[in-house]
Amino acid sequence: MTARVLDGKTLAEEIRRDLAIEVAELVQGGVQPGLAVVIVGDDPASRVYVASKGKACVEAGMHSETIRLPASATEAELLAVVDRLNADPTIHGFLVQLPLPKHISSERVLLRINPAKDVDGFHPMNVGRLSVGDRTAFRPATPFGVQQMLIRSGLETKGAHAVIIGRSNIVGKPMASLLVQDTPGGNCTVTICHSRSRDLPAIARLADILVVAIGKPEFVTPDMVKPGAIVIDVGINRVTDSSVAKGYRIVGDVAYGPVAAVAGAITLVPGGVGRMTI
Ligand code: GUN
Repeated sequence: MTARVLDGKTLAEEIRRDLAIEVAELVQGGVQPGLAVVIVGDDPASRVYVASKGKACVEAGMHSETIRLPASATEAELLAVVDRLNADPTIHGFLVQLPLPKHISSERVLLRINPAKDVDGFHPMNVGRLSVGDRTAFRPATPFGVQQMLIRSGLETKGAHAVIIGRSNIVGKPMASLLVQDTPGGNCTVTICHSRSRDLPAIARLADILVVAIGKPEFVTPDMVKPGAIVIDVGINRVTDSSVAKGYRIVGDVAYGPVAAVAGAITLVPGGVGRMTI
């Protein structure tokens, strides 16, 4: 079997077109949606994400603001920025890019964000809302992007066994909340596996939908995949490769070539989930 390739680029363009229409309607009604992103330090991956978010906002017709603080910024300085954005009427939503430098408590920062502006959905209030099935809750971008990918690719989730590899607060846990809900793109039986799971390959083999977000290059091999399964690779890893000029290449958490020979559908890295999460 050769897997169908799920194309994040095309799906993301479709979402952005829909979004631009909604934004234009709001602007006509006198409100320009504003999104701010706060970045502390100069983690190269975070800088790329943040630049992409700002660009996508402007392209959708939104007001965009990026606040950059040096890695030496104190927690109090970051909290002051959060307070200012909480109070700014031109900013309807904002996020603080993670990870933060070690000397700053992300928990305290996330708790300070007004839940009504918490577009990441990381504030415990929004985590709870999502968990109880409140359809107006902010949904974290990465798992929501994965769910949209399934829905917009016409893949049936109802009754499927979804196995998620990885239990992070950013991907694994909210992914489980979304897939288990009684909504389109939900109604799955959900299992979460993690680094301490006993016989993880055997659990992964039960999956009709396998979502992998464990941060280990090419961790999932074909023996862990049921023939015909939908494989969603959330990983983005840099591995050294002396055969290419830049000395590295980007791979996912799934060994793409061998797994594509077994799976029914699979996402690319890059060009898959990453495109959907912005
Ligand atoms: N770092 C990696 N992904 C995310 C995300 O979705 N939101 C924030 N704030 N930081 C991230």
